[in-house]
Amino acid sequence: MLNVALPKGRLGEKVYAMFEKAGFECPSIKEKNRKLIFENEEKQVRYFWVKPSDVSIYVERGAADIGVVGKDILLEYSPDIYELLDLDMGKCKMAVAAPKGFYDDSERTLKVATKFSKIASDYYSSIGREIDIIKLNGSIEIAPILGLSDVIVDIVETGVTLKENNLEVVNSILDISTRLIANKTSFKFKSKEIERLAESIKEQIK
Ligand code: PRP
Repeated sequence: MLNVALPKGRLGEKVYAMFEKAGFECPSIKEKNRKLIFENEEKQVRYFWVKPSDVSIYVERGAADIGVVGKDILLEYSPDIYELLDLDMGKCKMAVAAPKGFYDDSERTLKVATKFSKIASDYYSSIGREIDIIKLNGSIEIAPILGLSDVIVDIVETGVTLKENNLEVVNSILDISTRLIANKTSFKFKSKEIERLAESIKEQIK
């Protein structure tokens, strides 16, 4: 049985369609209910919907053999997994943003609000800037508006959230996209299934 952790939401549904095309279909997943685990014994596959930021935890600890996760999560938490494929979807940027007209006074410690403490710390230490991290869990954009921080480090996809909150990108830190990942032990013992799946997905994204 191949255990697959999918990120709950639109991206996860898109990815499931690719798995289905690869021969790992599981019709019950399309039923409209609140169930989180779906299995197709005939195809020897089991899917479960998890919070996107938790996918790599399931995969690292072997509760899932494979999963689909954003590069942002891999960089932030450095899970001990194999990264198999860039799925070329879920594309966005990690960026520093600030209120329009923001001036960075290098004499002062910069207050940075973010969900991504490690990515933000790594970035600012690479440019030698002293910062104070304010770790938040969401709605990061309001931090500089309320004076909680000077800037934010967050994901920018369309840019609409920044625009509607009068913020703008000051620096782009890195490009992000969705990755197919595997548990290291599973990759050894279920290599045939995992490789068959990865190959088919690779073909689909060509
Ligand atoms: C993410 C991110 C931004 C927004 C960017 O938030 O943190 O707030 O999407 O997208 P945009 O550039 O297309 O506007 P998410 O929806 O994950 O919610 P969160 O605030 O709870 O993190």
